[in-house]
Amino acid sequence: MPRLMIVGGHRLLGRVKVSGSKNASLPVLAAALLCPGRCVIADVPELSDIAVMCQALTCLGARVQRAGGQVEVDASCVNTLELNDELTRRMRASNLVLGPLLARFGRAVVAYPGGCNIGSRPMNLHLKGLKMLGAEISERYGYIYATAERLVGAEIILDMPSVGATENLIMAAVHAAGVTVIKNAAREPEIVDLQNFLNAMGARVRGAGTDVIKIEGVERLEPARHTVIPDRIEAGTHMIAAAITRGDVCITNVIPEHVESLTAKLREAGVQVESGDDWIRVVAGGRPRAVDVRTLYYPGFPTDLQPQFMALMALAEGTSIISETIFENRFKHVSELRRMGADINLEGHTAIIKGVPRLSGAVVEASDLRAGAALVLAALAAENGSIIENVEHIDRGYEKLERKYNTLGARIMRVHS
Ligand code: EPZ
Repeated sequence: MPRLMIVGGHRLLGRVKVSGSKNASLPVLAAALLCPGRCVIADVPELSDIAVMCQALTCLGARVQRAGGQVEVDASCVNTLELNDELTRRMRASNLVLGPLLARFGRAVVAYPGGCNIGSRPMNLHLKGLKMLGAEISERYGYIYATAERLVGAEIILDMPSVGATENLIMAAVHAAGVTVIKNAAREPEIVDLQNFLNAMGARVRGAGTDVIKIEGVERLEPARHTVIPDRIEAGTHMIAAAITRGDVCITNVIPEHVESLTAKLREAGVQVESGDDWIRVVAGGRPRAVDVRTLYYPGFPTDLQPQFMALMALAEGTSIISETIFENRFKHVSELRRMGADINLEGHTAIIKGVPRLSGAVVEASDLRAGAALVLAALAAENGSIIENVEHIDRGYEKLERKYNTLGARIMRVHS
């Protein structure tokens, strides 16, 4: 099992380039199932989650070729419409094949992804929407069985703006008869990226980025080429890394608008943030001020940056309150931050963080992707050395993280025990 050894106390200085978005790549790769022919997707990051999605597409019979940041998917020969739990348990987002398979073939069988470390992660909103489009859904033995002679456009009002449900329903609706309207849709930039790829294939999707998305069913789609947007969560992680190490870092290949909520919070904390068209520079001279955060759906403060921001607030001057409103169990990093000297108390979905002047290195365990990233940031700022176990969680969502931070002056070594 790989682990990271980090010697803290080094300011991050210099420039770092953000990779393509994991959470944009995953639905776009699934959408390549919608038509026969070769789709070419560029700027796909080399991550274990992407590898699992590519494996899922291959299991379904698609031909997947990867060369550097480019992935070619030829779904001409898809001959299986069933995805077993070996894959869906490894990566929840493999459930995004449900919509495309149903749209193109009228049938799909997908194992329930099950819960994970941050919550139960149900799919009720996905299934409720598919039923409203006319799909027959049955659930047994841990599998979802979906069939549809012909999907028919409908007005779907989501109980909550679920990112995955919005993505699955958009893809399911591309061939549905008539118009589908999804209300209370998620507004994340990754959904805009999916819309752009689908429209390049000949779909008629409008409104992504707002809470009302309209999909006019079309008869045929053609394979297309697409370049995914930069990863806003990776960008935000680097912004916080610069702040927590009192560094000076220019982050390139970023869309500043996508991280506006974090930028506002960093400025509130006294961190200097300036930006251009595709870059953001973060300069931090001293301890940040304590600020309160409440995670919300986009464009609110993203839950995927909550653990990383908590690591920063652990060193702030004053007491901050962080409320996690999206997932029911996304505080697994708290116990590990405490081992490093953080003063954090939990009351339900709220964390009260009393800033301390310094953190000390420790042996800590990553429990999930973003919790692991938070521990890396805390270790970068801590005095003396830390060891982070279960680094495979971090590898799910960060491409060459230690290489990027070592280029900025960090001292991180990956060891394989
Ligand atoms: C996406 O997950 C992201 N993953 C997550 O990023 C992100 O944290 C999440 O959106 C919220 O922004 C990808 O895009 C691959 P949701 P998703 O459906 O789609 C509940 C990361 O670190 N819900 O918006 O699974 C659910 O339990 C990952 O990169 C239902 O109740 O998230 C959760 O509490 C972690 N029923 C809330 O909605 C449903 O049918 C948000 O979930 C679906 C969701």
